[in-house]
Amino acid sequence: MDFQLSADQKKLQARARELARGSFEARAAEIDRTEQYPWTNVEELKNAGFMGMTIPKEYGGQGRTFLDATIVIEQMAQVCGVTGRIAVESNMGAISTVMRYGTEAQRKMAASFVLDGDKPAICITEPGAGSAATEMTTRADKRGDTYVLNGKKHWITGAGASRLHLIFARVFDEQGEELGIGGFLAVRDVTKGLRIGNREPTMGLRGIPEAEVIMEDMEVAADALVMPPRGLRKGFADLMDAYNSQRVGAGTMALGIAEGAYEHALQYVQTREQFGRPIYEFQGLQWMLADMAIQIDCAQLMLYRAAANAGAGFPDATEAAKAKVVAADMAIKVSNDALQLFGAAGYSRRLPLERMVRDARMFSIGGGTAQILRTVVASRILDKKLPQTRDGYLELAQQARRAKKDAAE
Ligand code: FAD
Ligand code: COA
Repeated sequence: MDFQLSADQKKLQARARELARGSFEARAAEIDRTEQYPWTNVEELKNAGFMGMTIPKEYGGQGRTFLDATIVIEQMAQVCGVTGRIAVESNMGAISTVMRYGTEAQRKMAASFVLDGDKPAICITEPGAGSAATEMTTRADKRGDTYVLNGKKHWITGAGASRLHLIFARVFDEQGEELGIGGFLAVRDVTKGLRIGNREPTMGLRGIPEAEVIMEDMEVAADALVMPPRGLRKGFADLMDAYNSQRVGAGTMALGIAEGAYEHALQYVQTREQFGRPIYEFQGLQWMLADMAIQIDCAQLMLYRAAANAGAGFPDATEAAKAKVVAADMAIKVSNDALQLFGAAGYSRRLPLERMVRDARMFSIGGGTAQILRTVVASRILDKKLPQTRDGYLELAQQARRAKKDAAE
């Protein structure tokens, strides 16, 4: 086991740091204040090769690993959460789903969007189906060589800025029989019937829109369906398997934000004096700093492990969920403690601490809540299905009885 980054990864980290500290840090407050998508940062990310770096070389990318992407995202998020988010979604989530599961044509299309500076949107959540994502009602009806989609997604990161969308929907054949869940590719301003709805006024990460994505008789060619490897019946499970990469990405953003806040606090306690002494001399504050450093290390190790263990596949569901839970809880605590160490100055919008606190708050919600991810971990460690619906255990018991009876007959 090797806990060191390779020479190439250290170089990559240094390049990412230089860009982040060079221009992204300077723009972060303005992006937050204006709530405008940072197209200048996108251009710089793209030119530096940080968008689509996980895309295989044969499609124009660099064939980099999720760990490589993680290292870059962490540097971006230390100074600007929004830019970190763009780095996540242009290397993980929808793009990695298409690159692994898509047809040749789908891969080429998705790669060209991302390498040209598009951060694809992944559309899972609906007003009535948040944690209970399997209860989504968006439907795709087969009509000859096309599918017609109807439904509404909300809280879609980048909606209105992103062009390429991967939309999860229940698929029905021409007889109206449900086949399972699949992902459909659609392009804003090209695919008819795809509409961006209301934008949420969010607490943090304000430079990236969170908005509704509405499908109204949205007709796409049959080849817009990204077929999960085990088919539509296991479509949701396969799509979530790919989604585990995005959970590692989201956890890494939380990590980066916490590291950024901690770095500010570490400097401040050595310069600010009260009672005639630098405030770091107070043991209560030393222990706060030590706890921050310990928790940051824990999250970083778990995230790097989840990313590194993905190999040529996707991160393991349990490792990704554990790492995101730890990173999200840690980032809320660490950014908040960092602000505390600044006293009133931390509460001022002149410094980035209050923005970091707001940005960090999202990670125990978006991408699977802290509660849901604990349920994912529990189900894996108990090696049991843990239905969350009221009748779930009853249905499982009935299925088991039926299976026993069938086996006996
Ligand atoms: P609910 O599911 O209604 O949950 C409400 C509360 O109940 C939570 O505390 C939850 O943990 C708890 N809860 C629910 N069920 C259980 C259970 N079985 N056991 C224990 N507790 C439970 N979605 C997308 O599809 N694409 C995106 O790009 C995207 N980006 C997002 C960005 C941000 C900033 C945010 C905040 C959300 C984003 N989401 C996105 C949506 C996100 O995935 C959902 O918010 C999340 O899955 C939770 O769904 P919900 O908000 O409907 O909460
Ligand atoms: N990785 C791999 N497979 C996964 C998975 C993951 N992270 N989460 C679920 N699955 C698989 C399950 O193993 C199951 O497979 P099976 O059909 O072979 O048994 C299938 O998907 C359905 O999961 P299950 O736990 O039975 O579904 P559920 O109806 O109880 O719902 C979830 C639970 C999966 C919807 C819930 O745990 C979840 O992740 N909600 C959050 C959604 C989310 O993250 N949204 C983010 C949008 S950006």
